[in-house]
Formats: sequence, C-alpha cells, structure tokens
Amino acid sequence: MLADQFTQVFREEHRKVRDVLFDLIHAFKNRDKPSIQLLLHKMVMCAGPHFRYEEEAMYPELVEIFGEEYVQKLLEDHDRAIGTTKRLIEITQKNEFTDEETVETIRLTRTILPHVSDCDGLSIMVESLPSQVVQHILDCRDASLSEGVDLMLWASTIRNRPIIMPG
Ligand SMILES: [Fe+2]
Ligand SMILES: [Fe+2]
Repeated sequence: MLADQFTQVFREEHRKVRDVLFDLIHAFKNRDKPSIQLLLHKMVMCAGPHFRYEEEAMYPELVEIFGEEYVQKLLEDHDRAIGTTKRLIEITQKNEFTDEETVETIRLTRTILPHVSDCDGLSIMVESLPSQVVQHILDCRDASLSEGVDLMLWASTIRNRPIIMPG
C-alpha cells in the first residue's frame, strides 16, 4: 500500500538523521574534527532534501488535520534545527575546541533530536490522507532528493523563512 511505502521511507530517513546526530555527539565528545566535519556534511546532505519536501509538500497537507498552530511549530523546529546546524558548523571551523564548546556542541546537537522523533510520528497522520496526496508527497520527495540541495544552501536561497539561532 502507498501509505505503508511512505511510512517506511520516512522512517528510514529519520533513522539516518538520528544516527548521524548520535555519531556527531560521539565525535564531539572525542573532539574528532575530521569525523565532525564529515558528519556535518552528511547532516546537511540528508536534512536538506528531507526538510524541503516536508515543507513544500507534506506539512501544508497537515494543516487540515492539526490546524495552523502545530504546523507552525513544526516549521519553527526546522528554523531552529537550521540555526543550530549553522552554529555547529561555525564552532567546528575553529582550530581548537574549548571544554565549554565541547559541552555546548553536544547540548546543541541533542536539541535537534526531539524533532526527529516528533516528525517521524507524523506518518500516522499522513497515512490517513487520500492516496493521491500521499503520491504527491512521494513525487516531491523524489524531486527534492534528486535535486539534492544541501540544508544550508536551501535555507539561504530557495527556502523563504527566517532561521532561529540557538541562544
Ligand atoms: Fe522529518
Ligand atoms: Fe521535519
């Protein structure tokens, strides 16, 4: 069934982002800069196309179910995740991490995790949508994945929303 297919690919993408975040926390703990850079690159490559089809095709379809307010919250989670990733990239560009920065990068990375599980749960709502809507989401997913615009480039060009930097 189409909805099951969606739920499966959706779960697989969140699993991938989750594991990148776990590995990132581990790499920050070890101050392993080559791994951190590699994982931040993986993060922006996975999250960019994923956030994009969610925002362009999926989140708008959820307004009818949740109402405007919760969908705004989901978008703000993205604003914040983008700002946090930007901050992590900035800190990583420095030559040496201080102890405070190590603690801070781990804390910041963890702040992205709740959206991964919250977002994955949305598939229970998507499966209630008409199959042509689910098909439309899957088509947009294909297009977004094949364009492959990374998170930071997408956020600063195509995406028309502000980002929220961590405090
Ligand atoms: Fe998601
Ligand atoms: Fe999301």
